Amino acid sequence: TPFRGDLLSQQAGAERLSTFGQLIGSIGHELRNPLGVMESSLYIVKGRVVDDERAQKHLDRIGEQIGIANAIIKDLLDMIRDRPLATSRLCLLDVLQSAANQLHLAVSLEAIADLPEVEGDASQLRQVFVNLLDNATHAAGPEGWIRVEGAVEDGVIALAVEDSGKGVDESIRRRLFEPLVTTKQKGIGLGLALVKRIVERHRGTIAHEPRDHGARFVVRLPRA
Ligand SMILES: Nc1ncnc2c1ncn2[C@@H]1O[C@H](COP(=O)(O)OP(=O)(O)OP(=O)(O)O)[C@@H](O)[C@H]1O
Ligand SMILES: [Mg+2]
Repeated sequence: TPFRGDLLSQQAGAERLSTFGQLIGSIGHELRNPLGVMESSLYIVKGRVVDDERAQKHLDRIGEQIGIANAIIKDLLDMIRDRPLATSRLCLLDVLQSAANQLHLAVSLEAIADLPEVEGDASQLRQVFVNLLDNATHAAGPEGWIRVEGAVEDGVIALAVEDSGKGVDESIRRRLFEPLVTTKQKGIGLGLALVKRIVERHRGTIAHEPRDHGARFVVRLPRA
């Protein structure tokens, strides 16, 4: 089935979910050790094939894939364990800029240059926008566009990420922010669940506000 979340939603009760969370946590944790060994062995082997270009290329690919595996595990662990927030006064422009840089994405941030500061955890909020921008990039495709907008509503700062894609599939709208809900071949369905978790820990909200031309996600955070 395309929606792995179905399995989860059938299992009633928070108790099952927390057992599931513990299982994921221990698997994720255990996987970090072998990945660490692979990483250091890779480094040693790379030093021994310096004159073999093809071998170097393949070793680089292995290194890249180890990086991806590490990132997935990090997301999983972040999902289930609430790291304490390391808060400071933040300029959302900087947060968005570092999220876009992480994705090697060029997107205009002019519209949010003058927003007031928020109080938050810079790296966790970066993760929020990395996930929203990543989804938007995927949805918009190479020919599409992504727009970032900002507004001040009373004491709240609203930040919108909008794209020109097909919009969120009707079949998953109700469960969009639940873990393991995905329509992507290679997706795990953790992005938006993580976004919601982090935003709510900042006493904020996340909403999907569909547009005719595609999806629009709005993060609202209290102003510092
Ligand atoms: N901007 C968007 N446009 C259209 N659909 C979207 C958009 N953002 C999210 N979705 C839908 O919501 C689903 C869940 O998104 P989420 O980020 O949680 O997981 P994922 O992107 O599938 O996988 P992961 O983020 O774990 O790699 C996606 O599979 C997609 O169907
Ligand atoms: Mg995603």
